[in-house]
Amino acid sequence: MTPPAAAVGAESAISIRGVSKRYGTRRGEVHALDGINVDIKPGSFVVIVGPSGCGKSSLLKMLAGLQLASTGEIHVMGRKLTAPRSDIGVVFQSPVLFPWRTVMDNLMLPVDVRKLDRGSFHDRALEMLKLVGLQDFADRYPWELSGGMQQRVSIARALIGEPALLLMDEPFGALDAFTREHMNLELQRIWMKTGKTIVLITHSISEAVYLADRVLVMSPRPGRFVDDIAIDLPRLRQLSVMSTPEFGTYVDRIRELFNVAGGIDA
Ligand SMILES: Nc1ncnc2c1ncn2[C@@H]1O[C@H](COP(=O)(O)OP(=O)(O)O)[C@@H](O)[C@H]1O
Ligand SMILES: [Mg+2]
Repeated sequence: MTPPAAAVGAESAISIRGVSKRYGTRRGEVHALDGINVDIKPGSFVVIVGPSGCGKSSLLKMLAGLQLASTGEIHVMGRKLTAPRSDIGVVFQSPVLFPWRTVMDNLMLPVDVRKLDRGSFHDRALEMLKLVGLQDFADRYPWELSGGMQQRVSIARALIGEPALLLMDEPFGALDAFTREHMNLELQRIWMKTGKTIVLITHSISEAVYLADRVLVMSPRPGRFVDDIAIDLPRLRQLSVMSTPEFGTYVDRIRELFNVAGGIDA
């Protein structure tokens, strides 16, 4: 018996069923994703890792409601996804801040776009700035901030509407290695404090193992999930966890999958 549509994946934060993605281009069709099926529990931290061009960003854009799947269905919080939604926050690789807006005004962008009352979001905005450690920077402009700080503004902005789900597409890819590790530690703290469901995409195996409860490994294009690995390392994970044998075992297992499936930079 098929369950009623409204009940599909109701207990999951995200339910992806039979999703594929094909793009029509001038040089023919690109088959980006194939046969994606997964359920993601509320409050979990899921990291999707895969080689360049395997369809990670395509999948994230579909989860954000920014583009449609060619086949299949996605439910978020029990509701079928058809368009972008205010209960889904998105952070992209580059922070996409407006240079003529202050940090606070950039934070308020979703509030302005939705024509809501800024006043009722003020306390929330200050709270989010504090969460990302930028409480003293509300009146600064993006060009006065480092790359890591700019990306923290975009994380705060993605959280301002209290989304149940936070999607992140290689959010720290443009940062130097030192800042990137620091941001990973901060993101873990934010996740532990807020209890959001996070889906983060990366092509760094160690970033995936460090952050995730669960790592979904993708094959080269057309992307499919080839493994689903529970990362059983205690929280709060300090950066030093990366030099433990347990951490190394997870990294080796994923790297091995890539070697079999065909190449990745890690
Ligand atoms: N809008 C688009 N039109 C045509 N092809 C696209 C489009 N977006 C992505 N692709 C192609 O789909 C494949 C997957 O891309 P993408 O999802 O960006 O992968 P990843 O994020 O894993 O690097 C690539 O071959 C890419 O060139
Ligand atoms: Mg991408």
